[in-house]
Amino acid sequence: MSYGSLPATGYSGTAKLLHWLVALCVLTIIPVGFWMNMEGPYQNQLFNLHKSLGVLILGLMIVRIAYRLLAGAPAAEPGIARWQKAISSAVHGILYILLIGLPIAGYIANSAYGANGTPTPFFGLFELPPIVGPNEELSKSIFAVHKIVGWVVGGLVVLHIGGAMMHFLKGDGVMQRMIPKSFSGR
Ligand code: HEM
Repeated sequence: MSYGSLPATGYSGTAKLLHWLVALCVLTIIPVGFWMNMEGPYQNQLFNLHKSLGVLILGLMIVRIAYRLLAGAPAAEPGIARWQKAISSAVHGILYILLIGLPIAGYIANSAYGANGTPTPFFGLFELPPIVGPNEELSKSIFAVHKIVGWVVGGLVVLHIGGAMMHFLKGDGVMQRMIPKSFSGR
C-alpha cells in the first residue's frame, strides 16, 4: 500500500493499536492452526480458537483499511532507499490482501464442511451462519489453498519482522513510528 501524504511523524494511536492487535492475533492463529491438526483433548477448542481469531482478524482488518483510507498514513521516513520502500510497500500490500482473503476463504470452506454445513464460532459468544451450502469437494479444495496461503502469510510476517528489526538496529526511526509514544516519544 502506498504511503499517504501525512508528515513523517509516526502512526496515530488508533493505527498503532490496530496494528498490534492484528499482530498479536496473527502470531497466535498460525501456531494454533498447526497444533489443531494434532489429536488431543483440546483439539476442538483449538479449532474454535483458530476460527474465532480468523473472524476477529477479518473484522480488525476491515476497520484498519477503512481507517487508513480515511486518515491516511505518515509519509516514508526521509532517507529510506527506493528499493526498501518498494519491498516494504509490496509486503504491506500483500499482507493487507491476504489478511482479508484468507479468513474469508476459511469462513467459506468451514461453511461448506460437513453434511449440513458448519457455523463459524466467535469465542463462544455467537456463531456466524454458513454462507454457502454443504459441499465437501469445495470445502476440501479451499482448505488445501487456505493451508498453503496461511504459511505464505507466516513467511511474509517473518520478512516483515525482519525488516522492522533491521530498522531498529540501524536506529533510523522507522520502528519508532509504530511503537507506543511512551517508548518512542513520537
Ligand atoms: C488471517 C486469518 C487466518 C490465518 C492466518 C490462518 C492460517 C492457517 C494456517 C497456517 C493453517 C494451516 C495449519 C497446518 O495445517 O499446517 C490453517 C488451517 C485451517 N484453518 Fe485457518 N487461518 C485463518 C483464518 C481461518 C478462518 C476464519 C477459519 C474458519 C472459519 C479457518 C479454518 C481453518 C481450518 C479448519 C484449517 C485446517 C484445514 C485442514 O486441515 O484442511 N482459518 N489456517
